[in-house]
Amino acid sequence: MAGDGSVKLIDEKGIRLDGRKVDELRPVNIKIGVIKNADGSAEIRMGKNIIIAAVYGPRELHPKHRALADRALIQCFYRMSTFSVSDRKSPAPSRREKEISMVISNSLASVVLTEKYPRTTIDVYLQVLQADGGTRTASLTAASVALADAGIPMRGLIASVAAGLINDKAVLDLFDVEDQKGSGDLPLGYCPVLDEISLLQLDGVFTVKQFEDCLNIAIKGAKDLYEIQRDALKQKYTDIRAEVEVPVKPKTEEPKEEPKEEPKVAPKPVLKVEKPKTEEPKPSKDDKKEVE
Ligand code: CDP
Repeated sequence: MAGDGSVKLIDEKGIRLDGRKVDELRPVNIKIGVIKNADGSAEIRMGKNIIIAAVYGPRELHPKHRALADRALIQCFYRMSTFSVSDRKSPAPSRREKEISMVISNSLASVVLTEKYPRTTIDVYLQVLQADGGTRTASLTAASVALADAGIPMRGLIASVAAGLINDKAVLDLFDVEDQKGSGDLPLGYCPVLDEISLLQLDGVFTVKQFEDCLNIAIKGAKDLYEIQRDALKQKYTDIRAEVEVPVKPKTEEPKEEPKEEPKVAPKPVLKVEKPKTEEPKPSKDDKKEVE
């Protein structure tokens, strides 16, 4: 967070570099069931971010001594692909990736009914294919939908988005340039059904008013995101129904029975078999002689 004033991130009309208003989300698209081998999966596209979430489990945990006697362990593996940013990212797991994996696991554990699956693990793989700021929050949003796709019982979905400070004002869903040049960042994970916060981080220095503004704008954004998550899950079942259902013919009125007329029998065609005309054999000269 540089708090760099050299780039004008918001114009006089309150419009940002990418054309959004300060309280607007980036265009979001969520697809369910993109990884057929996984028990549940989702792909999220949020602005230029592209992230895949794949869920495996509940399944046996190895090594077994890590298993929890009374509940399932949720393990998240957040990774950025080497090609996801313009400067090649090192393939070695970074401290940042470990930290993001941990905060996403903790956030999901607050809504998943882990007590139903003691001694097991639920593994959530999060692969960032393209990054443009806010990948931890977009990953959490996708992970939550992928868990629902895997049929894992939860108290509610988590929708996650960050708000930040640009020119000391609260702005929703920062993209990479805003994230770098702005002066603060507040990633939020929120469960609208429970009205509970499951992730809250803070980067930068905020006044109480700025903190409240960012929190309120992020909660509003999370509620909008939640509707998109629900629609994506519903869409999956609409698609399945369309695939499985046999199209039902629309009922048409039975035609009224009219008195049956005797079927007119067409007269059978009389076949005239004409005998092939055979020419009478002309009497030969020899025959004439015989006659004489
Ligand atoms: O992605 P998020 O905002 O949740 O986390 P961050 O640590 O604040 O990273 C912000 C952004 O920096 C990422 O989304 C990437 O666009 C970029 N980044 C990068 O270019 N190279 C890295 N090795 C890590 C992050």
